[in-house]
Amino acid sequence: MRVGFGLLLTGASAAIAAFTPKPPVYPPGGPSNEVEFREKFPYNPGPIPRGRTVVTIRPSKDDHDDVSEELLHGLKKANSGGTLYLPANQKFVIGQRLDLTFLKNVDVRLDGTIQFTNNVTFWQEPTNLWHYPFQGSVSWWKWGGKNVRLYGDGTIDGQGQAWWDGLNGQNYTQYPRPILFYATNLTNFRLEGIKLKNSPDWNQLYVYSKQISIENILVDAVSTNASVYPYNTDFFDSINVDQVSVKNVWSNEGDDCFSPKTNSTNLHVDTMYCNHTHGQSMGSIGEHEGEVSIIENVLIENVFLMNGANGPRLKSWAGPHIGRGYINNVTYRNVWMGNSDMGAQLDSCYFNIDSTECAQYPSQVNITNILLQNVTGYTNGRYGRETGIFTCSSNPDAVCDNIKLVDWDVRSPCGPAVISCDGIKGGLGVPCYNSSSPEVKAAAADTC
Ligand SMILES: *[C@@H]1O[C@H](CO)[C@@H](O)[C@H](O)[C@H]1NC(C)=O
Ligand SMILES: *[C@@H]1O[C@H](CO)[C@@H](O)[C@H](O)[C@H]1NC(C)=O
Ligand SMILES: *[C@@H]1O[C@H](CO)[C@@H](O)[C@H](O)[C@H]1NC(C)=O
Ligand SMILES: *[C@@H]1O[C@H](CO)[C@@H](O)[C@H](O)[C@H]1NC(C)=O
Ligand SMILES: *[C@@H]1O[C@H](CO)[C@@H](O)[C@H](O)[C@H]1NC(C)=O
Ligand SMILES: *[C@@H]1O[C@H](CO)[C@@H](O)[C@H](O)[C@H]1NC(C)=O
Ligand SMILES: *[C@@H]1O[C@H](CO)[C@@H](O)[C@H](O)[C@H]1NC(C)=O
Ligand SMILES: *[C@@H]1O[C@H](CO)[C@@H](O)[C@H](O)[C@H]1NC(C)=O
Ligand SMILES: *[C@@H]1O[C@H](CO)[C@@H](O)[C@H](O)[C@H]1NC(C)=O
Ligand SMILES: *[C@@H]1O[C@H](CO)[C@@H](O)[C@H](O)[C@H]1NC(C)=O
Repeated sequence: MRVGFGLLLTGASAAIAAFTPKPPVYPPGGPSNEVEFREKFPYNPGPIPRGRTVVTIRPSKDDHDDVSEELLHGLKKANSGGTLYLPANQKFVIGQRLDLTFLKNVDVRLDGTIQFTNNVTFWQEPTNLWHYPFQGSVSWWKWGGKNVRLYGDGTIDGQGQAWWDGLNGQNYTQYPRPILFYATNLTNFRLEGIKLKNSPDWNQLYVYSKQISIENILVDAVSTNASVYPYNTDFFDSINVDQVSVKNVWSNEGDDCFSPKTNSTNLHVDTMYCNHTHGQSMGSIGEHEGEVSIIENVLIENVFLMNGANGPRLKSWAGPHIGRGYINNVTYRNVWMGNSDMGAQLDSCYFNIDSTECAQYPSQVNITNILLQNVTGYTNGRYGRETGIFTCSSNPDAVCDNIKLVDWDVRSPCGPAVISCDGIKGGLGVPCYNSSSPEVKAAAADTC
């Protein structure tokens, strides 16, 4: 999510003021942290393939020693068949924006650390970041080209703390925050092994890109300042992408875990652990007037959601100036959640729109052929016994059809779980009640 800071669900009706967070839980048998995750899913980058020219650059002497020029030259030298090698125990400080859209058949072997400087004032000068015209997206580098691999045991460190500390409720116009990894027009890209640390904003944004493979990645965005939150630190966002595969990921951050947006197709997530996130979210889409948005052919499986806000989630915009589109053919299977605020949600009144405005300007996004299979676990009772909210648009031109829950077993610590549903053609395949029914009202009020 990009637009807001709120954690509360638009469709939920429980009084949450009195809710006390529960201690963190992890899947039975683990892993319960990134070390155990790596033990369960080992990653070994192996030797640099023979036959590739190896290019090295000088490391930084300290946190202010900017080697962005060296990195750029190193990549140009390694381009077309070589490997830029950034060894372990070396730091490479980036203090200038980089245009890396020329890449072609190149590897970057990162065993050390690439660290962006944390001079917020500097980066926020308009020409010091790259801009992409979607919800104020900016980044300090942009990757693009063909046949690119970024891999190794190393870390990309965004030094997010300085950015979160300075945020203070400002919006993206007032206070732009760089995306840690931004790619545009990138084809056949592999991101492997790397740890993405303390991104100021989203961890990854791919636009106009295809054949993206993301494997064995660790993500950590943790604030050490108790009074600030690592806002909007989504693991993955995309616009106009095709063929994305995500495998073996541990992600501990403060927003959506996997969150493809406008025009994302043929996506596969297999084996992902998300701690403290907003869940696996399709969208939001349908935000912009005159625009058509599509999310189609998605399989999300073997996902563990711990201590977060939501599980599977589908989001489309309502309001006076919205676009059209559809979310079609999305399967979530073998999803477990523990200590989650909500189990699953279909939200057609995104974002922050009250029911009156939503009814007046309902979403124009169709939601079809959605399967939630073997989604299990338990919530934390923040919304009482309500474990699912499925609200379709009231627009006659925006149908919700063939949305099914099979082997669904998400429980509430407060007692028998209740799912609310509005406007879902043919029902959900499990008992559910409209959101204004006594059943839902009682379930939502029944906090524990
Ligand atoms: C998981 O998230 C919770 C916050 O909900 C946090 O307390 C805990 O430290 C996180 N666990 C790990 C391993 O990062
Ligand atoms: C941060 O960048 C600004 C220029 O944008 C500069 O004036 C200032 O000295 C820098 N601060 C540090 C600590 O480097
Ligand atoms: C995208 O990248 C390809 C090379 O990989 C290039 O030929 C093409 O012009 C680029 N398109 C845009 C819109 O930049
Ligand atoms: C924590 O964040 C607050 C709010 O931005 C800021 O005023 C304070 O200086 C930060 N504390 C530390 C130790 O950086
Ligand atoms: C950001 O906040 C400023 C000042 O309140 C306001 O003028 C501007 O319209 C806001 N921008 C967005 C995109 O909300
Ligand atoms: C998404 O794809 C549709 C259909 O191909 C196209 O009309 C629309 O412009 C695309 N949207 C964006 C934001 O690029
Ligand atoms: C639905 O999406 C899945 C996953 O991408 C794909 O394998 C399947 O062929 C799609 N089904 C249809 C009917 O297109
Ligand atoms: C949504 O479904 C309706 C009914 O099938 C159809 O008329 C409309 O064109 C669909 N909208 C989009 C954006 O595909
Ligand atoms: C259901 O998902 C769990 C993981 O959450 C998995 O252990 C179990 O094997 C799955 N059941 C089936 C029938 O696939
Ligand atoms: C919801 O259920 C209540 C009582 O069960 C009923 O009075 C109301 O008409 C229903 N609303 C809708 C929109 O179906």
